[in-house]
Amino acid sequence: MIIFFSDKKKVNLKDVGGKGLNLIHMIQAGLPVPKGFVVTTEAYTTFIKENNLEEKIHTLIKDLSADDMMGLEDAFQKIENLFQEAKIPSNIHEHLNSAYGRLDSLAVAVRSSATAEDLPEMSFAGQHDTYLNIIGEKEILEKIKSCWLSLWNPRAISYRLRQGVPQGDDQLGIAVVVQEMAVSEKAGVMFGANPLNNRRDQILINASWGLGESVVSGIVTPDQFVIDKSSKDVIESKIGSKEVQIIQQKQGIKKEKVPQERQKISSLNEIEIEKLYNMSETVENYYGEPMDIEWVIGNEEAYLVQARPITGLFPLAESYESPNEKGLQLYLSFNRIAQQVSEPFTAMGLEIMRLEMWGVLAMMGINLGKYPRAFKVAAGRVHFDLTPLLRNPKVWPKISGNLAKKDPIAGKVLMEFLEKNKEEITSVKSKIKLPPKFFYFVFKFAKKAIGAMLQPDQAEKRSVDLAKKHIHEIEKAREKAHSNQEKIRLIEDKMKSAMEVIVLQCAYFTPGTQAEERVSNKLEKWFGSNEMLAPVIRALPNNPTTRMGLQLVKMAYDLKSKKQTPDPKDPMFQKFLEEFGHRSNMELDVGIPRWKEEPDYIINILKNYIEQDPEGLQMRLLEHKEEAEKATLAIVEKVKDEKGKFRAWKIKKDLQYMRKLLGLREQPKFDLIKSFALFREILLEIGEDLVTKGRIEKASDVFFIKFSDILKEKGSLVETVNRYKAECEKQKQIKTIPRFIINTGECLYGSTEASDGDGLQGVPISSGEYTGIVRVVHDPRNAVLKKGEILVTHSTDPTWTPLFISAGALVMETGGPISHGGIVAREYGIPAVSGIEELNKKLSTGDEVTVNGNSGEVILKKNIKDDK
Ligand SMILES: Nc1ncnc2c1ncn2[C@@H]1O[C@H](COP(=O)(O)OP(=O)(O)O)[C@@H](O)[C@H]1O
Ligand SMILES: [Mg+2]
Repeated sequence: MIIFFSDKKKVNLKDVGGKGLNLIHMIQAGLPVPKGFVVTTEAYTTFIKENNLEEKIHTLIKDLSADDMMGLEDAFQKIENLFQEAKIPSNIHEHLNSAYGRLDSLAVAVRSSATAEDLPEMSFAGQHDTYLNIIGEKEILEKIKSCWLSLWNPRAISYRLRQGVPQGDDQLGIAVVVQEMAVSEKAGVMFGANPLNNRRDQILINASWGLGESVVSGIVTPDQFVIDKSSKDVIESKIGSKEVQIIQQKQGIKKEKVPQERQKISSLNEIEIEKLYNMSETVENYYGEPMDIEWVIGNEEAYLVQARPITGLFPLAESYESPNEKGLQLYLSFNRIAQQVSEPFTAMGLEIMRLEMWGVLAMMGINLGKYPRAFKVAAGRVHFDLTPLLRNPKVWPKISGNLAKKDPIAGKVLMEFLEKNKEEITSVKSKIKLPPKFFYFVFKFAKKAIGAMLQPDQAEKRSVDLAKKHIHEIEKAREKAHSNQEKIRLIEDKMKSAMEVIVLQCAYFTPGTQAEERVSNKLEKWFGSNEMLAPVIRALPNNPTTRMGLQLVKMAYDLKSKKQTPDPKDPMFQKFLEEFGHRSNMELDVGIPRWKEEPDYIINILKNYIEQDPEGLQMRLLEHKEEAEKATLAIVEKVKDEKGKFRAWKIKKDLQYMRKLLGLREQPKFDLIKSFALFREILLEIGEDLVTKGRIEKASDVFFIKFSDILKEKGSLVETVNRYKAECEKQKQIKTIPRFIINTGECLYGSTEASDGDGLQGVPISSGEYTGIVRVVHDPRNAVLKKGEILVTHSTDPTWTPLFISAGALVMETGGPISHGGIVAREYGIPAVSGIEELNKKLSTGDEVTVNGNSGEVILKKNIKDDK
């Protein structure tokens, strides 16, 4: 019932609670912790049992919900009354008396230590009671009872409900730490990593006068120090206002004003900072990770009074091969910048992405193996190590300029970081040497691009054929692959060749993008604006994504005129799936079911179109085509009139390239996903096999293991599957992901500056202006967008296109002019703005806004929250 910190017994969370457990561990690690003991959860359960409180409490709380403050308060009052009448069993009295007698000081701290506290995912900080400077057995017992009661205070119940911690479970208990009071001239907290910027090579200390209660409860602005771990230098120190302090009185504590002169001086000197630093280092070494610590200093001694994992740090990047990298490394978030998908990948999804990187590099003749070190995973998302490319500052503008096309803020953030760390980044010379194979590849690419220029009408067929041939090769190889090992080999091989295909397919539209740049620059130069170009790139032919949108609208129109509802078995629908069923939302993750497996999203879209006006939608799309032709002619005429025949002829040629080739931009990914769909089928076959061998429970669990697990040939993988599934769920909780992460742990999110008033400043990606009602969409699968509503979301990919068609405008957190969202918005002539951070906090469904796709501004006209 009582365990002394120094007992050297093996203890567990269930008996001593989170706070108690960590204190005992810290003593074992040799750290100075004030002497004390834990009154275990058994004491609490005995108390509850002997007073018959279990049923009563259960009845009081069973129907409560997390935000029912009145109900929670009421239940707590009633439980408090029950506790007041209840008696503490006499054997607890006896145990406590003898333990208290063994302490050296009369004054103790009585501190709650719940079993669901100080855990990696849940801090439960400040949910339960703590009483400082308590003297005498009777008082201590009373405070122990108060700590027990605090298990049921409204905020604790509400927190548990929100976090899904069971209330009636026998896992839920509360222990109480009784511990000598340390002399506390100053106290505070210390983080073994800097939670403000996520850096693991820094320590952050908050300190103030008196007892630490003032810092942890947030009633003062404490002093703040940032320490660099390797040099131990204080690299930042800020003196807080520290107006009040909490000090001991005869029994208990009181709050008082801090004398003026002490408010202004630092509460810690260098020696003390070093002591704390050393403490943090020992704690981190013991746990193998940086921790959140509460400390106390008095009489020149530093004490540790609590240690818990730091919650909320963005995870560090891991390499598939454990790296020994020296110096700063910068990793680009593929999820955020390249693909604009914020969700984490499944374990198998990551495997395929790893092979994708291997394939791209191998194609250029850079052989980093199947486990390229530059492939980094953090929080289940894919990152690429850009550092080797950044050693030479001359290439910075080019790299950041290219990034900016996808994501303008990323370009800016990258440049800022590089300038700030120029010395360190450029101190190493780049070792990248391009092998002859690379130049051979460039030659192959150029040949195809020139071909597209000479015969633009052939470009689509060539691009499509290239991919078709590859798919055919996969199918042929599939017939020969029987064992799981052979199947994995097949996926590896064909992933590699798929990368070559996708890059070569890009050659076919390259003359189009080059022409676009030329025309755009010229129009800008001659007429001061390139706005007249916008209609030209609408309704581009040869674009599989627009074709998909048009087919859906046609299907909706057809169904509506026949008064039918969408049905997956309908031959028309089946035909649609034949062409587009390999796609899905989050399609780059092989772990995600394809539309042909789960057509709900498409059915939903159809229903939505039918309710709108499919004929109107279809007309609008067809009109775009006419407008594009008219706009092309108009530009040529204008140039001819004002700049002469020759220039007009050149512009005309470029405009033709644009019309004929730009639509092919969507082709490579569209075809790549076909390979992915095949890989998915093959993986599911492997899954079936693993099920028959009893290694996993269902075939689709194969997406929660890795190739190496399959190749081990025997042993149950159920636990591995569950672990990866849990990991995936956990990572999904992280909603905003950084654009770059640094190997120090630092995260570069990047954000646009907030403009004054009700305007949000973003980056313009598709011109035009539109005022309408906002619809915030997180998941396109069950979104319904009414005609003309403004789609507000973190980012979009081509599979969102069907939603776009009926949107009035688009506002996104991420995605530049050549992101899919940008391309498609321009094609449909929908004004679009991107690059506004934390949109879902700034705009809500129902708000009325004006989206200005020329200036990048989004102006709030009517805030739905004001109406409430
Ligand atoms: N034994 C002790 N001696 C001196 N101060 C203490 C002691 N125990 C706790 N404190 C002070 O009280 C603060 C809050 O106590 P704690 O039990 O950790 O409450 P919480 O769970 O709300 O953080 C600690 O951060 C520390 O500053
Ligand atoms: Mg604490």
